[in-house]
Amino acid sequence: MKTFYIETFGCQMNAHDSEKVVGTLLTQGYTQVETPAEAELVLYNTCSIRDKAEQKVFHRLDQFKHEAGKGSNGKRKTYGVLGCVAQQEGEKIFERAPHVSLVAGSASYGRLPELLVQLEKGDRRVTGLSFDRDDAFETEFTRRTNPHRAYVTIIEGCDKSCAYCVVPFTRGPERSRASESVMNELEQLTGAGYTEVQLLGQNVNSYRDPSPAGWDFATMLERAGQVPGMRRVRFTTSHPRDFGKEIINAIDRTETLCNHVHLPVQSGSSDVLRRMDRQYTRDEYMRRIEWMKKARRDIAITTDIIVGFPGETERDFDDTLKLIDGVEYDAMFIFKYSKRPNTAALAYEDHIPEEEKTRRLMELQERQRGIQLRRNAGYVGLTEHVLVEGYNQATGQWIGRTSQHKTLNFIDAALPAPSQERTLVGEYLDVLVTRASPNSLAGERSAHV
Ligand code: 5AD
Ligand code: SF4
Repeated sequence: MKTFYIETFGCQMNAHDSEKVVGTLLTQGYTQVETPAEAELVLYNTCSIRDKAEQKVFHRLDQFKHEAGKGSNGKRKTYGVLGCVAQQEGEKIFERAPHVSLVAGSASYGRLPELLVQLEKGDRRVTGLSFDRDDAFETEFTRRTNPHRAYVTIIEGCDKSCAYCVVPFTRGPERSRASESVMNELEQLTGAGYTEVQLLGQNVNSYRDPSPAGWDFATMLERAGQVPGMRRVRFTTSHPRDFGKEIINAIDRTETLCNHVHLPVQSGSSDVLRRMDRQYTRDEYMRRIEWMKKARRDIAITTDIIVGFPGETERDFDDTLKLIDGVEYDAMFIFKYSKRPNTAALAYEDHIPEEEKTRRLMELQERQRGIQLRRNAGYVGLTEHVLVEGYNQATGQWIGRTSQHKTLNFIDAALPAPSQERTLVGEYLDVLVTRASPNSLAGERSAHV
C-alpha cells in the first residue's frame, strides 16, 4: 500500500489544487494518511505570498531533514514541495532541503501521475516547473473536502504586474477555462448534492471564455447561478480594474449569486496605487463601490489592504483610513508589506520600518473593528437566510453562513444539538439575528420559525 500525507498553505486556489492532487493520488492507488510519520510520500502545497508563508514550509522540511530516504518505520520516504514556493524557488529547493525529491508548481499537476512514476522508480530529483502544458483544470477526480460548498477553477494565473506580488511568477500567465467544461463540472456538482460553489481565479473578472461561446465573467456568473439545484454562487478574487458594472447587474438579477464582493483596494492613496501599478485610482475604485451601494441588493463588500508599502507616507496612510471610513467594509484583511523575489517593489526606496508597519496595521484594525461592529449591529432584529456549515460543541451553537458571507451562530430550539438521526448541516434556514459582534452575528430559531 502506498501512503501519502499532504499539508496545504495559502489561499483557496491552493486548497482547491490540493483537492485535485489528492484526487489524482487516490486514482494512482495511494491512500491518504493523517500524519507525516505514517506516510511514504509527504507533500507540502505551499504559499509564497509573503515571506512568513514561505518560511513555514522550510521550517516543516527542516524537521525531517535527517529522515532522507528512510522513515523511522524503515520504509522509503519521499518528500515533495508543490505550489507557489515550488514554482518560485524551483531546483534551489533541492539544495536548501536535500531530502526533497519532488518540486512541482500548480501548472504541472496534470503531469503528476507521470512524476509519481518517476519517483516510484527511485528518481531522486523530479521536477514539474514549466507553464507550457496546461491541463491543470481537468483532473480525472477531485477529492473535495467540503460536502456542500465546492471550489471550481474558471481561470488560472495572472497577467497583472502589481509591484509587490509574486503570483504572476508562481502561477504564470492567465489562462481561462472553456465555459462548457465549467458548466459540466457545475452540473455534476449539483447532481452530487452540492448547493454552493465558489468560482476561483486570481482575477476572475478578466475571465474570457476561450471557446466560440466567448462568455465574459458576468455571463459565466449568471449562467452558473442558473444551474438547476444551485443555491449559492460565490467568486474570488476580483481586480478593481476589470470589475465591470455588468457584474453588479448580474447579482441584482440573479438571487442565487451571493450578495458579497471581495474587491481588494490595497491602498486608499492614488499615489501608492500608482507605484503599486494597480492600474486604477482611488476615484475609479470608489466608483465601483458606488455601483454596489446603489444596487438593489444589500451587497457586502470586503477588501485586502497592504500597509507599509515602500514610500507610504503618513498622508498616504491617512488616505487609507479615510477610504475605509467612507466605504464601511464588512470585513478586511490587512497585511504588512513583505519583500518578494522578482517583484518590482524590491528595487523601490524608502522601505518602511517593521515597527511602523505594525503600528499602521494595528491602527487600521482598530478602526475597522468599530466599523464592522456598527455594520453588523444593523442586522439585529432581521431574519437572515443561512446555509448551516457546522456545529460548535463548545458553545452549543450551529454555525450558519449568510449570503453576505457573515458567520451567524445560532441556537435552534427544536434541535439544540446534532443527533445520530438528524443534523442541520447542509440545510438552508431562516434565523433571527439577536446579537452582533465585529466578526460575527448571533441568533436563534424558535420552534415555530
Ligand atoms: N506583501 C504583503 N501583502 C501582500 N499581498 C500580496 N502580496 C503581498 C506582499 N508582498 C496581499 C494583497 C493581496 C492578498 C492576497 O495578499 O493584499 O490582495
Ligand atoms: Fe499564496 Fe498567492 Fe500562491 Fe495563493 S496564489 S498560494 S496566495 S502565493
